[in-house]
Amino acid sequence: MGEYFATVARGLEYLAAQELESLGARSIAPGFCGVAFEGDRTLLYRVNLWARLPFRVLLKLGEFPCHDAQELYRSIQKIDWQAYLTPDRTLAVNATGKNDRLNHTHFTALQVKNAIVDRQQQTSGDRSNVDTQSPDVRINVHIERESCTVSLDSSGSSLHRRGYRPAVGKAPLKESLAAALIQLSGWQPDLTFLDPLCGSGTLPLEASLTALQIAPGLFRDRFGFETWPDFDELLWERLRREAIASQLDRLPAKILGSDRDASAIQQARTNAKQCGVAQHVKFSQTALDRVEPPADCGVLLCNPPYGERLGSDRELGEFYKQLGRVLKQRFKGWAVYILSGNKALASTIGLKSSRQIPVHNGSIPCQLMQYELY
Ligand SMILES: C[S@@+](CC[C@H](N)C(=O)[O-])C[C@H]1O[C@@H](n2cnc3c(N)ncnc32)[C@H](O)[C@@H]1O
Repeated sequence: MGEYFATVARGLEYLAAQELESLGARSIAPGFCGVAFEGDRTLLYRVNLWARLPFRVLLKLGEFPCHDAQELYRSIQKIDWQAYLTPDRTLAVNATGKNDRLNHTHFTALQVKNAIVDRQQQTSGDRSNVDTQSPDVRINVHIERESCTVSLDSSGSSLHRRGYRPAVGKAPLKESLAAALIQLSGWQPDLTFLDPLCGSGTLPLEASLTALQIAPGLFRDRFGFETWPDFDELLWERLRREAIASQLDRLPAKILGSDRDASAIQQARTNAKQCGVAQHVKFSQTALDRVEPPADCGVLLCNPPYGERLGSDRELGEFYKQLGRVLKQRFKGWAVYILSGNKALASTIGLKSSRQIPVHNGSIPCQLMQYELY
């Protein structure tokens, strides 16, 4: 049994806890920007392969009191690093959090790295090299008040980088946030799904992966645990094979994306090819004022430009009014969800929202606004 912590975007802890439960996690405890849980190695691999919301899954090695750099160094040296990191493998240390005496994450990480390689030298006469970009073993230290938690990062690069999106648009959503918005909307695969401002297609693509039961981790080159000394290649291959075998070959209902920008649609189509859903999801170059509903009812989910990254508030005000008009006139019977990082702009839509769900898009606090159109 291992103790794990899946890091997630702020506000998504409870949703991620549900996802982890559905994958078989035990002793689930949502915390701040993450969810603690327990399980075996199969679960660890399964979560990395299947979970759509987490950024990283950390395996806890230890937790100890930590007041200053000397205590940190001593406690890190007590860990039997040979079990996790042999000198022929490279390492990187990431530090988060702080206390009064350890208030620079770079310094904390350096202290931990020194403690590990010094211990390696003492026990084997050899030490691991540092590779901050693509290490074999990534170590995570978290300082909170007078306590330090040391973990191994089983994911490697963040899991939101699915690997199917080489081409990115002007302001793409992270894949994990797109998946979370879809889950928050309550959309089910038997309902038509439309994003009329789809950019590089992240929302329709994540909806397609969900509907076709395609594991989001299948497109990644590697996971952190693949270069751990205890990597079970047969188990990993079995889980991947099972994931491929369980994919569906037809969407239960239509999934569509449109955008006025030809290059965005080009990108969306390229991305759809990369994740094997090109023949399922339909992308078209259409300006918002020409968008027609593809069914009598369904879920429309989009993230319009909201000023932080694209356009000025004045130009955008007109655009939001137009969005409200199009929705009111043409999308009766649909459930509409709009991600907005700007409340003043969102109110210019001119529709009354039935729910506002707070979510973070990176560092930007946003609302997922829900509108029922009758
Ligand atoms: C914030 S981006 C959406 C990003 C997208 N969710 C992604 O992950 O790539 C907003 C998109 O709205 C599109 N857009 C802006 N005005 C539009 C209009 N009048 N009609 C259609 N699309 C429009 C832009 O081209 C842009 O791709």
